[in-house]
Amino acid sequence: MASETDKIFSEFKEHSVAEFFKKNRQMLGFSGKVRSLTTIVHEYVTNSLDACEEAGMLPDITVEIKELDKEKYWVRCSDNGPGIPQKHLGKALGMMLAGTKFHRYVQQRGQQGIGASGNTMFSQVTTGKPVKFESYYDKKKVAGELAVDFKQNRPVITNETVEETDGSRHGLVVEGEFAEVKYDRSSFSVFEYIKRTALVNPHAMIALVEPTGERLTFPRSIETIPPRPRQIRPHPLGIGTNDLMEFARAERESRKTSSFLQATFSRMSAAKTDELAQMCPEVDFEKSPKNLTWDDCEKITKAIHSDQVKWIAPETDAIVPIGQPQIEKSLQSILAPQFMAVTERKPKIYRGGVPFVVEAALAWGGNAGKKAVSGYNSDIMRFANRAPLLFDAGGCAITEAVKSVEWKRYGIKDFENEQITVLVNMSSVHVPYTGAGKQAIATEDEIMDEVKNAVMEAARDLQRYLHGVTRDRVRVERKKAIMRYVTQLAADLAELSGGKIKAEELEKKLLHLIENKYSNAIEEDDSGDGNIEEEISSQEEEVNE
Ligand SMILES: Nc1ncnc2c1ncn2[C@@H]1O[C@H](COP(=O)(O)OP(=O)(O)OP(=O)(O)O)[C@@H](O)[C@H]1O
Ligand SMILES: [Mg+2]
Repeated sequence: MASETDKIFSEFKEHSVAEFFKKNRQMLGFSGKVRSLTTIVHEYVTNSLDACEEAGMLPDITVEIKELDKEKYWVRCSDNGPGIPQKHLGKALGMMLAGTKFHRYVQQRGQQGIGASGNTMFSQVTTGKPVKFESYYDKKKVAGELAVDFKQNRPVITNETVEETDGSRHGLVVEGEFAEVKYDRSSFSVFEYIKRTALVNPHAMIALVEPTGERLTFPRSIETIPPRPRQIRPHPLGIGTNDLMEFARAERESRKTSSFLQATFSRMSAAKTDELAQMCPEVDFEKSPKNLTWDDCEKITKAIHSDQVKWIAPETDAIVPIGQPQIEKSLQSILAPQFMAVTERKPKIYRGGVPFVVEAALAWGGNAGKKAVSGYNSDIMRFANRAPLLFDAGGCAITEAVKSVEWKRYGIKDFENEQITVLVNMSSVHVPYTGAGKQAIATEDEIMDEVKNAVMEAARDLQRYLHGVTRDRVRVERKKAIMRYVTQLAADLAELSGGKIKAEELEKKLLHLIENKYSNAIEEDDSGDGNIEEEISSQEEEVNE
């Protein structure tokens, strides 16, 4: 007789990663209609930017969106990158966890190999249709339709055509139909996403054709291609047991564990492997890395992290930040603020071995901040490797670090309601995202501290500026007050002189005196009474606390 338990286990089945993400599409960012559309564009645009940068090309990207039906849209993204070779096209766009970036330690926007195939999946599950592609690569145009076989996590290509070309056109075009999505211009929209992408990628030309037919072009503000991302080897201190297992499984060349360790990690010399071998006598460093067990990897990782072994610090020059002048130029062209401060900081390390660089900028006044019903709200713009993070702000290291700044110390009394934009970009060979949707950075201590320090550095400049603005305001107020009495005073003095001096002449002289006194407003120090003065001194007290 079959027991209840037997019945349960008769249902036992395997499923592929594609089936998993089909069922859990929210993990890839496909939740909510506006967000889903932004996710689609985000995946295509980040791929285009990565591909152009890797190939050393200035990106020209066009995103077109048309409304087909209620909550059903057509999306097309085309770029002038290198395109994808025919033999990799299927896997690149239709197989989950496949791509050129996962096993590399290189600063790029994509990491996992699920972005493009996630879009293909979303098109299929919401409209039942495949996506269409055109790849212009190496004097060939390959076009066709592509779907994911969810059971196998394999691409299915149909209607494929191949044409010879003269090679003048290169790049990738992907288009598809997507339902359960919505276009608008809200702060989580494709529009905002593209605007922010343009802000931190001043070397890219990005055009967005909205469903209304309106074409918005964000032109390049600089003509220099950012340095190509350089691949580095991971530092031993940045890895855990599981990482070591994965590297060992993926190893193709080294026959011995000792040579595998030296080939895989930076700062791992022959002497260091000997040191580790001595510390782990139970592990055979002569055996193939493929035969390393979890136990072996755990012992090696423990030895790596022990205080006995001294490591040279990780390489940090593979990290390419946006750069202070580029951020200033972009902020100027997009937000035209009254004041901005941008910090440039040295690379730092998190988890003991992963290098990263934080850039922070503050923009105040102009078009900074977010318009609210009454006045403005502050705006925190988060970026990782120059890709905007629009969602999941709550659990992100950047939001938490910015909110932990004591803004009052910097002359910002009510940060939430100030017309201020805080921009933070974290660049790294590995960004510790909190989920596969890549929208929030994990709250690692080192990252939180560095973001906070970078923002505070910019805040100090803003504080100095605001101090000057307040002083100027005092002078303007005082000048206005004095001006109110000038005519009367001139008339009274003229009368006192018994008509010897004319009132008009006196008035002219007085005006001249006042102009002189208040023209060089900022340099001079003024003293006197009044509410505004009190305001300044109370601010100074806060700052000097
Ligand atoms: N526009 C493009 N031009 C050239 N190659 C591309 C383009 N789009 C995708 N690819 C290739 O397809 C692969 C898969 O892309 P996909 O977006 O699925 O993953 P990824 O970018 O590697 O990582 P992530 O899942 O984090 O986005 C990429 O690694 C890249 O090799
Ligand atoms: Mg990608």
